[in-house]
Amino acid sequence: MECRIKVWGTREGTISPLIYGHFIEHLGRCIYGGVFDEDAPCADARGFRKDVIEAMKQIKCPILRWPGGNFASAYHWEDGVGPKEKRPALLNYVWGGVETNRFGTDEFIEYCREIGAEPYITVSLGTGTLDEALHWLEYCNLDTPTKYAAMRKAFGHSEPYKVKYWGVGNEVYGHWQVGHCNASEYAEKLRQYAMFMKALDPSIKIIAVGADNPEWDIQVLKHAGRFIDFISIHQYHGSDEYYDTVAAAYYVEERLRLLENLIKGLGFGHVKIAFDEWNVWYRVSAEEEAEKNGVVFLEEPYNLKDALFAAGVFLVLHRMSDIVGMANLAQMVNALGMLKTSKDTLILTPIYHVFDLFVNHTGRVVLGLDVNTEYYAIKAKSFVGGRQHFELSRVPYFDASATYDPGRNLLCLAMVNYYKEKSVDVEVDLSDFGIGEKATCFELGAEDPFVMNDFENPERIKPMEKTVELPGENLVFRMVPHSLCVLEIPLL
Ligand code: AHR
Repeated sequence: MECRIKVWGTREGTISPLIYGHFIEHLGRCIYGGVFDEDAPCADARGFRKDVIEAMKQIKCPILRWPGGNFASAYHWEDGVGPKEKRPALLNYVWGGVETNRFGTDEFIEYCREIGAEPYITVSLGTGTLDEALHWLEYCNLDTPTKYAAMRKAFGHSEPYKVKYWGVGNEVYGHWQVGHCNASEYAEKLRQYAMFMKALDPSIKIIAVGADNPEWDIQVLKHAGRFIDFISIHQYHGSDEYYDTVAAAYYVEERLRLLENLIKGLGFGHVKIAFDEWNVWYRVSAEEEAEKNGVVFLEEPYNLKDALFAAGVFLVLHRMSDIVGMANLAQMVNALGMLKTSKDTLILTPIYHVFDLFVNHTGRVVLGLDVNTEYYAIKAKSFVGGRQHFELSRVPYFDASATYDPGRNLLCLAMVNYYKEKSVDVEVDLSDFGIGEKATCFELGAEDPFVMNDFENPERIKPMEKTVELPGENLVFRMVPHSLCVLEIPLL
């Protein structure tokens, strides 16, 4: 198979580093057992798993969302601050099991500082109140001689935490959500929360709940658009079918473009999209786990085809860099996690490797790019138990992004060959540039797209690095079936 790309010397925009963000929730073994595990041999004095910290530092996690997800809707932050022995053990109403509250706001901030991430907190619109949200904001960000700022100081944290990103509610459009409401109820609550929260701290950014539903999103934007900075969208996809899964990245693009058109059409140029939950999720069901065990774990395993979906999402986010300001993989560890832990081991799934390749080997400046490839149409099953379907008439077999890294003067080409069975020869036209003689190539691929890492074989799939000779500004680059390649090309 042949396809062609032409990279232009034009700079088309800047990618927000926040698109490589993550999300942790009090769900199964995400926090307790993943992030925080006081009994694990690899835990530090604070109870944080050192192996997970190292993995997150390697992919320079820019932003971390917490405490949920659905869990946020029934979370009361005061249960999780102060001396640990005085914190109440409570039932986790949302996901089952016991919430010990040993990981709360101070631990979350400490963790973000350790891995170098901006904290992003979601306040409760379920059993929580506006008062409670304002107190939480005061606790985190203010230096006033008042109760909650003083409480933070009394607990040993004299300086404000300066938490910039605040989400008002989570998926409140959903019947499964504590605090479920309709669009106009939400829009008015959001207006009040955003207005009062920004009055306390004008430097914060507010993330509104979007529903991937124009009716909802339009009402929210019209009523509260001038008070918010981001509107969210959540997408989970995947099935056992290879093409259902990889094509879903282009369904994501369609939904993001729909939301972009609403935002721009209504004239809210200052509002960006927060794609603050996304991942492959279809193998494990929360309902079935809750019924069987009373506790939900969602330990979805991930293979190469799932990683190619993630790579496709990043290509889309590169193209949409002017509107998507943030994205958070759901989730970071164990529950829907790109990392999996046992008591003393950590495994990196192929999705983690996609983060590594994009974060560390692509640039933040988007270059002009034309892609010539073949397309297919698909009617796909997607998301938990195939309950959701989507149809697309034009899905590419090959896709790419071209970016520039000014720090290292590199042109970076991220390319995905989605053909399940065929190699492609990519004709690359770089005639707008003067290039060096050798490029570095990072390839994520395997014989079988369904291959995954597990505790017995933790390195079955990982990126391979090699040097590629560059014959000139026009070259042909061969990609094996179902693979991702990132080329770092030095510019003269
Ligand atoms: O990520 C798991 C759950 O999926 C989140 O708690 C919720 O927001 C979404 O429905």
